[in-house]
Amino acid sequence: MTFDKTIKIAPSILSADFADFGREIRAIEAEGCDWVHVDVMDGHFVPNLTFGPPLCKAIRKHITTVMDVHLMIAPVDPYIEAFAEAGADIITAHLEAGPHTHRTLQAIKATGKKAGLALNPGTSVDAAVPLLDLVDLVCVMTVNPGYGGQKFIHSQVDQIRRLRSLIGDRPVHIEVDGGVDPVTAPLVVDAGADVLVAGSAVYRGGSAETSSVYGANMRAIREAAQIERKMTA
Ligand code: DX5
Ligand code: ZN
Repeated sequence: MTFDKTIKIAPSILSADFADFGREIRAIEAEGCDWVHVDVMDGHFVPNLTFGPPLCKAIRKHITTVMDVHLMIAPVDPYIEAFAEAGADIITAHLEAGPHTHRTLQAIKATGKKAGLALNPGTSVDAAVPLLDLVDLVCVMTVNPGYGGQKFIHSQVDQIRRLRSLIGDRPVHIEVDGGVDPVTAPLVVDAGADVLVAGSAVYRGGSAETSSVYGANMRAIREAAQIERKMTA
């Protein structure tokens, strides 16, 4: 995985058919996604429960792009090794998940995986400053984590813009997660984001059998975002 600032679409499989992950992943990859975003929830840090390392390991076999694992769990540290072994390429932990985020990021880096830091909407991006030299990605949440299909929180756009300037020329991705669609994608790209996570806006109206809908949904997001890039270039 090399660093580049091209726009990347990362469908969240939280909106896929859980009974058919293999086919769902092959469908979004065939339709041109860049990364596959995997939302891990523990029913404690966030109110919802999803899946753990064994399922990540099972779906890894179907992923040929990048497995982007978003850990919404607390504590994080006891599980890092297991998610690394399950085949994650990027492991993202929340700043709010515990008091020792620096240690958590060091532990992720020690596995040889890329390290991501996620920030809830209630957290100032300034809190990421001491950690920016340790991370490969900062994930700015544009919803409160826990569920797909929530409304985009517009006040986060200014936070993304500020984060972009705080990152400066470090090779750090800005990922945006929550409520990203063809209307909100241009706003976050203009503010400096390059990785767009989208669940409902990718899976809406489609299925693994009608995967061209996924393709059309992803193209709509990408094109809206790229128009913004060209206009501000
Ligand atoms: C929210 C998750 C997101 C979510 C995105 O807790 O981290 O990845 O599934 O879904 P949409 O795009 O539907 O907001
Ligand atoms: Zn996510």
